[in-house]
Amino acid sequence: MARIIAGVATSHVPAIGAAIDNGKTEDPYWQPLFAGYQPSQKWMRETKPDVVILVYNDHASAFSLEMIPTFALGCAAEFAPADEGWGPRPVPVVQGHPELAWHMAQSLVLDEFDITIVNKMDVDHGLTVPLSLMCGQPEAWPCPVIPLAVNVVQYPPPTAHRCYMLGKAIKKAVASFDRDLRVVIFGTGGMSHQLQGPRAGLINSAFDQAFLNNLTKDPEALVRMSAVEYLREAGSEGIELVMWLIMRGALDDEVEEVYRFYRVPASNTAVGHMIIENKG
Ligand code: DHB
Ligand code: FE
Repeated sequence: MARIIAGVATSHVPAIGAAIDNGKTEDPYWQPLFAGYQPSQKWMRETKPDVVILVYNDHASAFSLEMIPTFALGCAAEFAPADEGWGPRPVPVVQGHPELAWHMAQSLVLDEFDITIVNKMDVDHGLTVPLSLMCGQPEAWPCPVIPLAVNVVQYPPPTAHRCYMLGKAIKKAVASFDRDLRVVIFGTGGMSHQLQGPRAGLINSAFDQAFLNNLTKDPEALVRMSAVEYLREAGSEGIELVMWLIMRGALDDEVEEVYRFYRVPASNTAVGHMIIENKG
């Protein structure tokens, strides 16, 4: 049977992608950030997942205000890097896993999570930057990736609780797939940041640290918080953190934090990262 063995949380700041693509990873501004992900790339090489489920948000690249799915599951065979205004990032096309993705769609809908099935979707920095951070700059990404796009751009976003419960349904869906696959789930976005309005530039490191602590120890405390609390504490784009709770919900109750990294700033954002393994 397939099973989820670990979760990865990471910010997905677009400027990180630009730094990689333009050869700036050794610049004094960026070097400490990329150094912080070296152990993660090693972990990724050693863990060798068969499939990654990557929870992220589209930033008006594949979707727009014309169509706003709350949860959109990528069931296609491949996903091209999106043109976000500067041309598509020069990274490999993302290979999907249609078999597992369609199985997840069926399991989730029967479980009353009425996700949107997407058969064509370009993927922006929300998905490609986490892959770059975790996998470096390979010729091809090391495994198939199933994108799960979550609306956290246009109010109303899904609640933290809904996200956590979706994670639990994903765990069940994967566990009922009849192939021996080791799956790693990514929750991306965050941490605290606000890109707009009078509070633009907001960072709340105390909130971020508490969030990182609770992610393994007391996720229910994070699940109880409302969208307004996320907005107040973590800034308008800090709401992206609810996507980390999909990842956390898909893991076991008993988990082990195996790596953590936190740095301020990267672009306008607090960068947070954690690798969490199931104990079983
Ligand atoms: C920025 C954009 C993002 O989507 C994000 O998650 C963090 C930072 C930015 O434009 O700096
Ligand atoms: Fe974002």
